[in-house]
Amino acid sequence: MAGATDAIRALVRTIPDFPRPGIQFRDISTLFLDRDGLAATVDALAATVTGPVDLVAAIEARGFAIGGALSVRLNAGLLLVRKDGKLPGATIAEDYALEYGRDRLAMHVDACAPGARVLIVDDLLATGGTALAAVRLVQRAGGKVVGARFVIDLPGLGGGRALDEAGIDVVSLLAYE
Ligand code: PRP
Ligand code: HPA
Repeated sequence: MAGATDAIRALVRTIPDFPRPGIQFRDISTLFLDRDGLAATVDALAATVTGPVDLVAAIEARGFAIGGALSVRLNAGLLLVRKDGKLPGATIAEDYALEYGRDRLAMHVDACAPGARVLIVDDLLATGGTALAAVRLVQRAGGKVVGARFVIDLPGLGGGRALDEAGIDVVSLLAYE
């Protein structure tokens, strides 16, 4: 497992000063390009899930890639949590603060059956604002959030602690201080 994690870490590229001076941007696109790395990432995330999952709630945009693959691996459906204004049907929405800016996430109001077991999935956890907005959406829709999974955690920004305090079981594969 440590070997797999090291191999996954080696495929994440760090780009300095993006999107602003002083930010070390962890670029997961290079990991997505590598077939073995991508498969190992999905395997490693799936191994952290012990109970049944009805739906993976994947967060736009990079979360769609990893969440889509993981949903197939877990034999779960895929719930798209999108930036507001993209979904065609009736939606519910939640505002949240980003590491750089503010935004609003939405999901179809009927996307989640009452009591459905939902796993939140995204590529990266920073402040946790995005993931907590997704948690609130799923809970408002009547779903039960069984956990949250990320490829990368930036623990210095406090998202893991915030999810923990909200009672969410959270696991990330890689941490970057
Ligand atoms: C990034 C990342 C997470 C979010 C994490 O997405 O993919 O969704 O930020 O930040 P937080 O924990 O501080 O809320 P971004 O908003 O850059 O969107 P993108 O995936 O569409 O590029
Ligand atoms: N990489 C990718 N997405 C992000 C980052 C990062 O370092 N910080 C906040 N969102």
